[in-house]
Amino acid sequence: YDSVIGRAARLAIELAVDDVNADRTVLAATRLSLVAQDTNCSGFLGTIEALELMEKNVVAVIGPQSSGIGHVISHVVNELHVPLLSFAATDPTLSASEYPYFIRTTMSDYFQMNAVASIVDYYQWKEVTAIFADDDYGRGGVSALGDALATRRAKISHKAAIPPNSNTEVINDVLFRANMMESRVMVVHANPDTGMRIFSVANKLQMMASGYVWIVTDWLAAVLDSSASRDLKGMSHIQGLVVLRQHTPESDAKDKFTTKWNNAARSRGINSGLNSYGFYAYDSVWAVARGIDQFLDNGQQVNFSADPRLHRSKDSTLQLSTLKVFDGGEQMLQQLLLTNFTGLTGLVQFGPDRNLVRPAYDILNVGGSGSRLIGYWSNYSGLSVAAPETLYQKPSNASSVAQRLYNVVWPGDSTTTPKGWVFPNNGQPLRVGVPIKASFKELVAGGRGSDNVTGYCIDIFNAAIRLLPYPVPCQFITIGDGKKNPNYDDIISMVADNVCSISFFLPVYVFNHFVISPLICFIFTSPLMQL
Ligand SMILES: *[C@@H]1O[C@H](CO)[C@@H](O)[C@H](O)[C@H]1NC(C)=O
Ligand SMILES: *[C@@H]1O[C@H](CO)[C@@H](O)[C@H](O)[C@H]1NC(C)=O
Ligand SMILES: *[C@@H]1O[C@H](CO)[C@@H](O)[C@H](O)[C@H]1NC(C)=O
Ligand SMILES: *[C@@H]1O[C@H](CO)[C@@H](O)[C@H](O)[C@H]1NC(C)=O
Ligand SMILES: *[C@@H]1O[C@H](CO)[C@@H](O)[C@H](O)[C@H]1NC(C)=O
Ligand SMILES: *[C@@H]1O[C@H](CO)[C@@H](O)[C@H](O)[C@H]1NC(C)=O
Repeated sequence: YDSVIGRAARLAIELAVDDVNADRTVLAATRLSLVAQDTNCSGFLGTIEALELMEKNVVAVIGPQSSGIGHVISHVVNELHVPLLSFAATDPTLSASEYPYFIRTTMSDYFQMNAVASIVDYYQWKEVTAIFADDDYGRGGVSALGDALATRRAKISHKAAIPPNSNTEVINDVLFRANMMESRVMVVHANPDTGMRIFSVANKLQMMASGYVWIVTDWLAAVLDSSASRDLKGMSHIQGLVVLRQHTPESDAKDKFTTKWNNAARSRGINSGLNSYGFYAYDSVWAVARGIDQFLDNGQQVNFSADPRLHRSKDSTLQLSTLKVFDGGEQMLQQLLLTNFTGLTGLVQFGPDRNLVRPAYDILNVGGSGSRLIGYWSNYSGLSVAAPETLYQKPSNASSVAQRLYNVVWPGDSTTTPKGWVFPNNGQPLRVGVPIKASFKELVAGGRGSDNVTGYCIDIFNAAIRLLPYPVPCQFITIGDGKKNPNYDDIISMVADNVCSISFFLPVYVFNHFVISPLICFIFTSPLMQL
């Protein structure tokens, strides 16, 4: 209960149960009653409490909040045929194919990571560092991120895993190591209750400065939406971040609910605000209520029967035989999958892959004491500055020219898009292959021994390198002995095998006895070489 998501969701669920019971059109003759359990984010308590809950002959479970506990409880509900509606377990590896009774009533991080990858691709970055909570939720998300980046020819070049319950020193070590790497695009997928510490440590390491890119998943939006009193000191650490948030369309119902939630929170002394997980929790209760309503309307009865595998064991005082299988579980599950209504989160309907239809995210840019909406991502059309619900009527246009976001103010109050990488402190210099030919010595000449190369092409190259706004350490590697022209196939394989980072390649066109143009071509394979 005492977590960023829990505080928002618990009250939202209670308000939803009240609303269902006050509504004469749904479950008119039946009272929906809520049995609440606090797992306190512990897998152990979560397991025990799920079993205790099952003793009470429940027909549906809403929750749990954490993906880790979701994995455990899914085994229980699967065997007892009780549908589990999870409004906050976003780990994409929690799948309906493994756990048929698991229904996700929020968006899977599969979509969120595709949104992150679209942003990375939009700014043409090629490598990112993933900073994540080293638990089911974090690993599941980062694995989806890797897949999503791969489809856009980008990748995670460094994984910075932060073990659960890490202290500041551990976080410091993890970030310090990440900072030694070349990528300056950080994707942070952490937990709302502990994630903010990452930024204060990063700030001390001067990683919240210009040149860095921080893309943060929806957990940070939940924290920002929930912090009733915006703490300006905390905000100063997170200027320039790009943050995702589940997109829920604007509606009167949503505004009314927000007011109601705020009033209820004030009267109960809850000193924290609502976030989008509250909306999903609210809609989950309505989905269950409508499902049960249909189930009863269809003439089904709520019966439970004993599970022969859970016979009473003489050696144990645990009353496992009191766990019963919900006979109508299969029908209830099918009924829930037919859910089709408009809730606070928009259209609540499940596609053939059992995900909520129309997954979409808001993209925010943190600045000053708040954040600015710079666009949206939808599974339908990718990045856009128009709200997703206005796009569904038009044909989908996910082509790269149609992608658009408003301008971002990056960390360090910079409006120039960071190039996303640096030459790493501990990295190798740029190794430049120089083919030494038998002729055209004025273009390139060199003796044995690297760095002893001269000529027109080398002068141009050095001049170009000096023009770059950042230092590029170079090392020349001569190819060939100057007596026989080197074989171009060999040069290409030296680059492919990473003996050289790039290589000169000198096709010289001779036309009417004049050398027309000493064309300098470079061959590159390393994604870093976007000079
Ligand atoms: C919840 O867990 C934390 C440690 O993770 C503990 O300090 C706290 O007392 C627990 N709260 C309850 C209500 O059990
Ligand atoms: C469910 O239980 C009722 C009695 O409570 C019984 O009449 C009915 O036959 C049972 N239905 C099924 C499908 O077992
Ligand atoms: C959902 O309900 C609307 C009417 O409320 C209906 O027009 C639509 O066809 C339904 N969709 C599905 C998939 O059943
Ligand atoms: C997301 O988009 C893909 C590709 O366009 C599509 O196959 C899939 O059904 C969509 N998923 C949802 C939940 O809309
Ligand atoms: C997609 O949008 C781009 C730019 O707005 C436009 O040039 C292109 O024709 C559109 N494609 C389709 C299929 O609508
Ligand atoms: C560098 O190359 C020149 C000729 O190109 C040669 O005279 C000189 O000895 C070389 N120096 C070294 C250190 O290899």
